[in-house]
Amino acid sequence: MTAPPAGSRLLIRDLEQVVSPAGVEAPLRGPSLGEVEVTTEGYVLVEGGVVAAVGRMRDLAPIGGEVEEIDGRGKCAIPGLVDCHTHACFAGDRVEEFSLRAAGAGYEELHAAGGGILSTVRATREAGEQGLREAVRRHRQWMLRFGTTTAEAKSGYGLDHDTELASLRAIRAEGAIPTWLGAHAVPPEFDDADAYLDFALAEVLPGAAQLAEAADVFLERGAFDTAQARRYLEACREAGLALRLHGDQFSELGAIPLAIELGARSVDHLEATGEEGVRTLAESDVVGVMLPASALFLGRPMPPARALIDAGAAIALATDFNPGSAYCESLPLVCSLAATQLGMSPAQTLAACTVNAANVLGRADRIGRLASGFAADCVLLDASDWRHLAYHLGGDVVATVVKDGRIVWER
Ligand code: NIG
Ligand code: FE
Repeated sequence: MTAPPAGSRLLIRDLEQVVSPAGVEAPLRGPSLGEVEVTTEGYVLVEGGVVAAVGRMRDLAPIGGEVEEIDGRGKCAIPGLVDCHTHACFAGDRVEEFSLRAAGAGYEELHAAGGGILSTVRATREAGEQGLREAVRRHRQWMLRFGTTTAEAKSGYGLDHDTELASLRAIRAEGAIPTWLGAHAVPPEFDDADAYLDFALAEVLPGAAQLAEAADVFLERGAFDTAQARRYLEACREAGLALRLHGDQFSELGAIPLAIELGARSVDHLEATGEEGVRTLAESDVVGVMLPASALFLGRPMPPARALIDAGAAIALATDFNPGSAYCESLPLVCSLAATQLGMSPAQTLAACTVNAANVLGRADRIGRLASGFAADCVLLDASDWRHLAYHLGGDVVATVVKDGRIVWER
């Protein structure tokens, strides 16, 4: 999307509340994680796609010249939501597998039998680059309706040279932030994970490093072990990529110490993280990304959010949107799950999917806050109290979505 002309102005007026995570730091942790700035009877003034001012209506000076206006009566403005962990580039679906799981089959068991991730790999390889672009566009559109103005998206359903690079191009072309998940599963044409990594690092990494911002690995039994994850991540770091890990989803294999040692931006999932992992992560700068929709969808234990927050960890929330473990694109629903299942306050959930998620994506200076100088990405909630974001479980709470000062979705 092109930015609006430098001089164009937008005034969102008569809002019940304008809300932004407090302060200027990122990531927020400890007591600051739960602090929000609430401006009542407020406005947001946008110039050239950037927030020029936030304030109270009674302090709004007359604005000369041409200004587009949005009536904010009865609504609250929050920052555009940031989904820092999605697998939005895939073809097909896994509704059949979903039915089997509902009847008792296990996720890991289906994966081991060549279903699961590998069944999406088959569909994704057949889709072609145009088909992948259309899929990412459709999924981005779904996310936008729930207020996600910035989304990361991973490759990882190609696992061959052409489909991995086509996935990363499709993600970029559709305005999402690409992560190369080159180590998601071992594709069927390789006998073992090391042989696959030999290929991926020699043949795919050079191209992936030109297209992606970060690299990610599924460190898990049945996927990649700790030595393999280290080898993959070190090579990716050498090629200039930021690092992420899928870790502690089913078993604790050392993802947290590895993430810290390698200076990763985040370690994501953490459903299986124990006390020592909590302590270690809390003492580090690595962000723990929690994905409660995935835990819910797979009937897994929830990650130890309360313990992480109390220990002072930097945490974020994301959907994990994908066809197998979290067919859910709604960050408001994730906020509801975090409030009801993870013991997080609404303010903590907001910070976790705005400023802290932006930090995971290396963009906390531009997005994630509704404050002067930040990108004019904001969500108008159809509620007079912003906490309805987390309160309205599965509710239709998003009324209007503004990105770079333009309305991109309206109910
Ligand atoms: O984050 N755990 C690994 N990857 C995804 C699921 C991928 C899939 O099932 O298609 C996740 O849950
Ligand atoms: Fe994931």
